[in-house]
Amino acid sequence: MTNKRMHSYRLTKPGSANVARLTEEAIPTPGHGQVLVHVRASAINFRDLIIANGWYPLPIPDDQVPLSDGAGEVVAVGEGVSRFKKGDRVANSFFPNLYAGKFNQATQQWVAHHEGWLTEYKVVSAEALVGIPDHLSFEEAATLPCAAVTAWSALQGVRAGDTVLTQGTGGVALFALQFAKAMGARVIATTSSWSKAARLAELGADHVLNYKTVEEWGVDFHANVTQGFHRNLTHPVG
Ligand SMILES: NC(=O)c1ccc[n+]([C@@H]2O[C@H](COP(=O)([O-])OP(=O)(O)OC[C@H]3O[C@@H](n4cnc5c(N)ncnc54)[C@H](OP(=O)(O)O)[C@@H]3O)[C@@H](O)[C@H]2O)c1
Repeated sequence: MTNKRMHSYRLTKPGSANVARLTEEAIPTPGHGQVLVHVRASAINFRDLIIANGWYPLPIPDDQVPLSDGAGEVVAVGEGVSRFKKGDRVANSFFPNLYAGKFNQATQQWVAHHEGWLTEYKVVSAEALVGIPDHLSFEEAATLPCAAVTAWSALQGVRAGDTVLTQGTGGVALFALQFAKAMGARVIATTSSWSKAARLAELGADHVLNYKTVEEWGVDFHANVTQGFHRNLTHPVG
């Protein structure tokens, strides 16, 4: 593999006009416990924008490959790997060394501690990957690790008939809206734009509030939407 070449994007100085530059480099070889992934799709989250602008709270090494989320196909397997074989379809977990338990000081992140996913080929610890079910495309699977898992976690405990509040139309809120509807909840969504309100309704929102035109939208929400009753109200944004 090592004499073959691939393309990657690498971050430039934060805040510069060209956020990333295209590079050509050697395709890496997987070591013990690692696999080589041919990356077929990667996704951009809010986090990636603040990293590119230099606003992320953790230090980012110079010249790092950006993006925390990706999906692809295993094309080579290192010694000691039994979880995956050549040809398997995989996506990343957001925290590559957090297999159980709670987030702690030793928890690592893509881009901050490991090269990210905006690359053609990538060596990854097999433990940091999950298999993709057949019904998901690479593009669909690549959107899940950061925003969708955040939304999924925020909705733990929600039951059919509950009311869920989603704020805005970012990645986390849009996944939360769709998951909450699938769980049988009623969804109240907020946005700053009427054109986005129409899209929220298409995605299943039962009631949409424009937080720009209704300044005291929280009061309106309690008076007219929940009528003072809610068993479980979830705020999935941030
Ligand atoms: N992505 C993740 O996996 C993740 C993980 C953990 C935490 N978070 C946090 O969760 C938050 C949302 O993440 P995201 O990736 O979905 O962000 P995003 O794509 O940037 O979306 C944020 C949305 O919030 C709405 N908004 C902005 N200002 C607002 C305000 N003053 N009041 C109410 N709504 C406002 C806007 O919706 P409208 O344009 O419709 O008004 C905006 O599109 C961020 O704070 C992020 O740091 C994200």
